[in-house]
Amino acid sequence: MVYPLIRKALFRLNPEQAHKITFRQLKYIMHSPLRFLIRQSVNFKTTTCMGVTFKNPLGLAAGLDKDGECIDAFGAMGFGFVEIVTVTPRPQPGNEKPRLFRLVEAEGLINCMGFNNLGVDNLVENVKKAKYDGIIGINIGKNKDTPIEQGKDDYLICMEKIYSYAGYIAVNISSPNTPDLRLLQYGEVLDDLLQSIKNK
Ligand SMILES: Cc1cc2nc3c(=O)[nH]c(=O)nc-3n(C[C@H](O)[C@H](O)[C@H](O)COP(=O)(O)O)c2cc1C
Repeated sequence: MVYPLIRKALFRLNPEQAHKITFRQLKYIMHSPLRFLIRQSVNFKTTTCMGVTFKNPLGLAAGLDKDGECIDAFGAMGFGFVEIVTVTPRPQPGNEKPRLFRLVEAEGLINCMGFNNLGVDNLVENVKKAKYDGIIGINIGKNKDTPIEQGKDDYLICMEKIYSYAGYIAVNISSPNTPDLRLLQYGEVLDDLLQSIKNK
């Protein structure tokens, strides 16, 4: 009942403003007696995939929580896993605004964010603070200003820093919003990237 009203109010703002306000409120609610408002139980069965056991197969996709700020709130909503960021070694602002567009009819979004995030060290601190007992997936990428020839180093830096805190790691080589990133998807470059990650 409340959702359509909140949605209507948020849709009066631009999408990024709405996102910021929602995150601020989520953080506030999680630290207040009102947290029962977002708590939900999801009764799907436990699922094991590639050796990782998820308490249910419903997960939050990457890119909503760009700095791992609301992991506990999404956990409380019942997600069996929460995939956070894409994170890069150094903080970066992402692409110029506007970079997020609502497709109201289709109930969708066009996203040109460009890995806006506060960097891997900040992320690690947030993950350490989280109390969520489900699987935290961490999605890693490269900084925009790292030349693509050195892109591999960025993945290895992130991997090393997050390894102990991640239930699984997603290697993002598919975003269209970082120039040349998708060159890492093919041939020897891909083999080299995957081999280096495996050897780390
Ligand atoms: C605003 C926005 C930001 C996103 N950021 C990321 C990201 O940082 N890393 C990533 O791997 N995917 C990112 N995605 C992609 C989502 O994780 C997801 O794959 C995509 O939205 C398709 O799923 P859907 O059809 O359920 O929306 C983003 C999507 C949106 C809409």
